This record gives sequence, structure tokens and C-alpha cells, in this order.
Amino acid sequence: MTDATQSLAGKVAVITGAARGIGLEIARTYAAHGAKVVMSDIDAAAMTDAADALDGACAFACDVTDEDSVVNLIDHTLNLHGQVDIAVANAGIATVSPLAEMSYETWRKMMSINLDGVFLTVKHAARAMVGAGTPGSIITMGSVTALAGTPLLGHYAATKAAVVSLTKTAALELRRHGIRVNSILPGFAETALVTGNKETYTAAMGGLDFDAVMAQAQGGYVSVEDVAAVALFLAGAQSSFCTGAGYVVDGGLTASLF
Ligand SMILES: NC(=O)c1ccc[n+]([C@@H]2O[C@H](COP(=O)([O-])OP(=O)(O)OC[C@H]3O[C@@H](n4cnc5c(N)ncnc54)[C@H](O)[C@@H]3O)[C@@H](O)[C@H]2O)c1
Repeated sequence: MTDATQSLAGKVAVITGAARGIGLEIARTYAAHGAKVVMSDIDAAAMTDAADALDGACAFACDVTDEDSVVNLIDHTLNLHGQVDIAVANAGIATVSPLAEMSYETWRKMMSINLDGVFLTVKHAARAMVGAGTPGSIITMGSVTALAGTPLLGHYAATKAAVVSLTKTAALELRRHGIRVNSILPGFAETALVTGNKETYTAAMGGLDFDAVMAQAQGGYVSVEDVAAVALFLAGAQSSFCTGAGYVVDGGLTASLF
């Protein structure tokens, strides 16, 4: 059921990495609250199938590491809907490796998708919003790994800490244009990004079952709905005075020493 105070009717939202997982759930939530949603992903086939299943959504292929591709996504949205009100820089990957064994190529790929991709999405969404003279909300996808050391995820965590920092500066620079910029810092959600690495995490924790560790540390997995609910809040009028902040959604994971 939709809540009128959270309505996104008349708003245009662009979401990167929206073919599955957290991005897909944000697309579903925005569409259910009346937004016109432009879903984008590097996986064009999966994204098109996902968009077909949603009323008020369309799909546009975009690789966030390629500036021309991001420009095309934003320009396509402007041509289609005339404005960009909400942009979610969500696309990301996670691979696992100890820093001492990590290839430079692995490091660079992580920087390229998880950090450069967020920069390009924020940059061109802001360009569209400033150009149109319309207020807007930009949301970046951080992670609780931005807040603490995370073995095997050093490259990933570094990008997320940088995303949180970039978000704050963008918020300050764009405030005079009525554009708010916030990040969401989820704990561990059971999407492909995490399930693909579970065995490695278990081995790295001396055989401790990762599901059991999550149950103890987080009270279970963060659901994609939990993250989308915060993305809805940050997109809408209820968060009109919120900018430059990071919103942790982690079941208490980062509140605990044990
Ligand atoms: N799952 C978690 O536990 C968790 C926790 C904290 C933060 N996050 C962040 O949430 C975001 C979404 O993650 P998810 O869990 O839904 O993962 P996911 O793997 O289910 O979805 C990520 C999506 O990003 C797309 N993508 C990858 N590279 C891309 C590129 N170059 N250009 C465009 N799209 C690209 C993928 O095709 C995929 O559809 C990521 O930024 C991730 O770091 C996830």
C-alpha cells in the first residue's frame, strides 16, 4: 500500500544497476509510489525484462564506467521525460581478495565501477538538475564497509568510504541549487553480490558459517526492502532538510563491538 506523504507522482527517477538486487527493489518502490523510472544497467537483457514487469518504468543500457554511456543515459531521460528529479548511483560490484595478494587490475576495476561510476552518475545527474533549474535528490550507494576495516574487501571498502566523502562534498556544492545528496550505507544483504562470495567469507572466518555470523552480528540479512524504504524517504519531500548525510541500514552491525 502506498502512503500519500511518500508520493513520487510526477517525479522522474534514474537508477543505475537496476536489473536486480537493491537497485531493482528501489525501482519497484519508486514506481509503486508514482515515479517515472528509468532503469539502467550494464546487463541490458536482465534490465529490460525487469523494466517490462514494472508499470511506469523503462530501460536504458548504461555502463557507469563509461562517461559517454552515462551522458547518454541522462540525455535519454531528459528527452523522454524532460527532467531528472531523482538519481540513484547504485551500480556496484564486490570481489574478494586480501590486499597483499590483490592484482592492480582487480583494484582498478573496483575503483572504476564503484567509485568512478558514482562520480559520473552524480556529475551528470547534477548537470541535468542544475540545467533545468529544478530541485532534486541524488542518492549514492555506500556500505557499512566505509566505516570499518573489512578483510578481503579492502578495495571495495575503500570505494565506499570515498563514495561517502564524495556525497558530502556534492551536497555542499549543490545545496544552493536545491539539490540534496545523501548516501545509504547498507549492512550485508543476501543479493548476488554477497551470495557469490559467501564460501570465501566462510573459509576466511576459519569455517564459521557466514549465515550464522550474520544472524549474530546483524540479526539476519538486511532485506532489499529495508534499503529501498530509506531510498524512498531520501527521494521524497519528507527528507527535504536532509543532505550530506549517510544513512546506515545494518540491523545494529556497526553499533556493536561483539
Ligand atoms: N548486497 C549487499 O550486502 C550490499 C551492502 C552494501 C552496499 N551494497 C551496494 O548496493 C549496490 C547494489 O548491490 P546489490 O547487492 O544489489 O548487487 P547486485 O550484484 O545484485 O546488483 C548490482 C547491479 O549492478 C550492475 N552493474 C555492475 N557493473 C555495472 C556497470 N559497470 N554499469 C552499470 N551497472 C553495473 C549489475 O549488472 C547488477 O545488476 C552496490 O553498489 C553495492 O555495493 C550492497
